[in-house]
Amino acid sequence: MLKAYAGQWCLITGASSGIGAEFARQLAVRGMHCVLAARREDRLRALAQELGAAHGTRCEIVSADLSQPRAGRELLAEVSQRGIAVELLVNNAGFGMVSSLDETDVARALELIQVNVAGLTELTLLAAKEMAHRGHGGIINIGSIVSFQPVGYMAVYAASKAYVLHFSEALWAELRAHGVTVTTLCPGTTRTEFFDQSGVPGWAERNRGQDVTSVVRTGLKAFDSGRHYVVSGWTNYLVSLAVRLATRATVVKSSMSVFRPRRP
Ligand SMILES: NC(=O)c1ccc[n+]([C@@H]2O[C@H](COP(=O)([O-])OP(=O)(O)OC[C@H]3O[C@@H](n4cnc5c(N)ncnc54)[C@H](OP(=O)(O)O)[C@@H]3O)[C@@H](O)[C@H]2O)c1
Repeated sequence: MLKAYAGQWCLITGASSGIGAEFARQLAVRGMHCVLAARREDRLRALAQELGAAHGTRCEIVSADLSQPRAGRELLAEVSQRGIAVELLVNNAGFGMVSSLDETDVARALELIQVNVAGLTELTLLAAKEMAHRGHGGIINIGSIVSFQPVGYMAVYAASKAYVLHFSEALWAELRAHGVTVTTLCPGTTRTEFFDQSGVPGWAERNRGQDVTSVVRTGLKAFDSGRHYVVSGWTNYLVSLAVRLATRATVVKSSMSVFRPRRP
């Protein structure tokens, strides 16, 4: 549970675009000061200026490459050195990978696990310890609709997001008694740069992706209610339930049609 939004600090990873940038906007509306982290500093600087001008809130930017081991620890150390206590951590940085086995870049797959899984774990554990010690604070981790099932041709990414949901729900249960809320936001297809980075450009536009405003609003509402997870959008929610009714083999086989590479 947060002490308050207004006047407190949040740390948002992957704030240079998409869902992360929208979290910064909606949290600044609530009066939060923001630490914005990502690799593209020019984007962070522009967002910091926008938020300061619109809301009068403070912003710090930190350049961080979470694909580097220990980057999470270093990011928190940098924030602490600036005299900032993080009341809300939003672990949003992440990327996807769609490919057939033949075309899978193994180094990129391991980078994905470092950013989506290891980096998120390091940040969550270190920040949660401090928050539990203080007796207040919150963490929002970004899962996905694919947190609920394996997905053919998106094997590594879907598995990384299953980890995020399971890990975060366990901490939600453990930390409730310590005044800390851990909520996992599971978006479905959302219109951001995600699919361009994942090897299927234009996917979100072709598949009627949600806009970031409603996705982030859903996440913050669930966090305010102390929920362990939320799926953004009713259709996505129904899909997340439907996979429990079919056999695991049926679910994973039918997932193959979504990203099956088209042969010329
Ligand atoms: N869009 C969707 O359909 C969808 C659906 C479900 C879940 N999600 C999840 O939502 C989160 C945000 O994605 P998005 O849709 O907003 O995509 P996006 O627009 O591509 O944003 C991804 C963010 O992650 C950051 N990032 C990527 N690699 C990083 C690294 N090595 N170090 C630090 N930051 C890194 C990027 O910043 P820099 O490149 O500047 O470092 C960027 O700010 C991700 O966790 C994604 O898996 C997205």
